[in-house]
Amino acid sequence: MKIIVINGPNLARLDIRDSSIYGDLNYSELKSLIETSSKKVGFEADVRQSNDEATIIGWLHEAADSKTPVIINPAAFTHYSYAIRDAAELLTTPLIEVHLSNPMAREEFRHTSVISGVANGTITGFGPNSYVLAINALKALLG
Ligand code: DQA
Repeated sequence: MKIIVINGPNLARLDIRDSSIYGDLNYSELKSLIETSSKKVGFEADVRQSNDEATIIGWLHEAADSKTPVIINPAAFTHYSYAIRDAAELLTTPLIEVHLSNPMAREEFRHTSVISGVANGTITGFGPNSYVLAINALKALLG
């Protein structure tokens, strides 16, 4: 089964982001981890990254139309993009929100997620392993 894994702004620059917050993997290593972990449970992961809100909205429309499950790390859009939330709400297949860091343990502006309310569940704070946990959660949801 195909899944789409969407990564939001600045996640392709994990190589220069604070590794004590986001973990040790660069983006291409994270992408490989997601692909390998997906294969193990029988998913084919289409892993994407964009810094652009409109592009992410387009990908969510595509997932809604094709009924493809989604794992999303909306990055900073998590905290304020009602447009991404409204697009995510169109999905009829599961949506899992992930974060490398634990936003609740960080600055106050990160304590709000406008996405969580339309996700089946949210996994935060486990570094790259958040994605592995999300893949396994999706597998359990889909049976
Ligand atoms: C993040 C947390 C967000 O607050 C931040 O803006 C990011 C990454 C995470 O994965 O921990 O860019 O989504």
